[in-house]
Amino acid sequence: MFLALDLAAIWLSFLASSSYQLANGSARPCRDALRPCCREELSLFKALHGQARLCQKGDNFNQRVVRVTGSTNIVRRSKIAEIDIAAYPYLSALVERQIAAWPQHEPTLATSLGNRSLEVMRDTEASSELVTKIALHHFGTIDKICHDYRYFCENMILEAELFFRRHGRYERSKFSEAVRDVYSKPDVMEKYMNGLLLSGVFWHNHAGALTFYRSQYLPMLPEGYRHLEVGPGHGALLYLTATDSRSGSIVGWDVSEGAIAATRRTLEVIGVSDEVELVRQDMFDAPDQRDSFDSIVVSELLEHLEDPLKALRSLIRYLKPGGRILVNMPANSPAPDHLYLIDKPSEMTDLMKAAGFEIEKNQLFPMTGYGLERCLKDRLTINCVAVGRRPG
Ligand SMILES: C[S@@+](CC[C@H](N)C(=O)[O-])C[C@H]1O[C@@H](n2cnc3c(N)ncnc32)[C@H](O)[C@@H]1O
Repeated sequence: MFLALDLAAIWLSFLASSSYQLANGSARPCRDALRPCCREELSLFKALHGQARLCQKGDNFNQRVVRVTGSTNIVRRSKIAEIDIAAYPYLSALVERQIAAWPQHEPTLATSLGNRSLEVMRDTEASSELVTKIALHHFGTIDKICHDYRYFCENMILEAELFFRRHGRYERSKFSEAVRDVYSKPDVMEKYMNGLLLSGVFWHNHAGALTFYRSQYLPMLPEGYRHLEVGPGHGALLYLTATDSRSGSIVGWDVSEGAIAATRRTLEVIGVSDEVELVRQDMFDAPDQRDSFDSIVVSELLEHLEDPLKALRSLIRYLKPGGRILVNMPANSPAPDHLYLIDKPSEMTDLMKAAGFEIEKNQLFPMTGYGLERCLKDRLTINCVAVGRRPG
């Protein structure tokens, strides 16, 4: 596989292949430029921008901008036009504003939205309504969130993705680095959380995982369940929990003040921010909560930790016997604050089993525009979602 090879061998293979163009057409790879310089990178650019081209002779690689072509794909455009505005009014309005903010992203949106089940589409409309209400309530416009989504994709994810392609690992490995560069910066966290919130609407894998949470996980919990989410971030899952008529007391811990602010903002929109206990808390410093919860959620959290097994071993103790955990952990998913890399979905369930969980459900959600097989072969993002149960 591409990334398993030694870097030198990769560049040699590029040189040997006429189908790979190198920076300036020379033997020097453009590793430091934010520019696709091989087919694998090109496909990632296309996933984000719809269109892009390989590096070519004469490109200025000191200019740290992404080059994409401006035209949109007419065939795919017609798929977006197929969205039934009457059935999905919030989604239609969001898509329109997003395309205005980032025209090159339109084909990607068409691929993602043109390929969803009715159930996922219904949840996508509900997520769109939530995003719209948050945006209007807190910013007075949808456009701010759409611009933050573009920033998140282009300046946070793509940059991390290129590092991953070139080095075969995530850029950061220490929690202190993630705190320094991301969690402690309110302006970065605001764009990050807004972007991630919108990814729940626009990304196939994130939308699928949200539907799994609502339609499969929540119904498994007992009436009046006591619930903890670690790392709620933008708060979309806590929102779904708080609006579930069967939920009991709800607690959220997040290490970032910016994330707590984003979660509170989401809960304010439905008027339940006082009913959910939100605590700024590093989960590794938390007071022991032995046998306390019926439900614990760690969604897009374990890859942010240096030692996810240690986290799962604490969390299983915090559950009551028979209690359940929902884990959503992406494989091959570079981001500025991702520290722990898994490249096979089984690595996540192995961690859960090693912590003592019985696996009750397990589903995989490949990234927009790709099937599972291709994601596994080329180390592309797959959201791995599982429900574990504490025996007893
Ligand atoms: C990517 S967000 C996840 C948001 C949301 N749960 C989701 O599924 O999209 C990860 C969150 O985990 C928080 N986090 C990271 N390490 C943490 C820790 N040790 N304890 C508590 N929260 C942590 C971050 O501040 C961030 O808000």
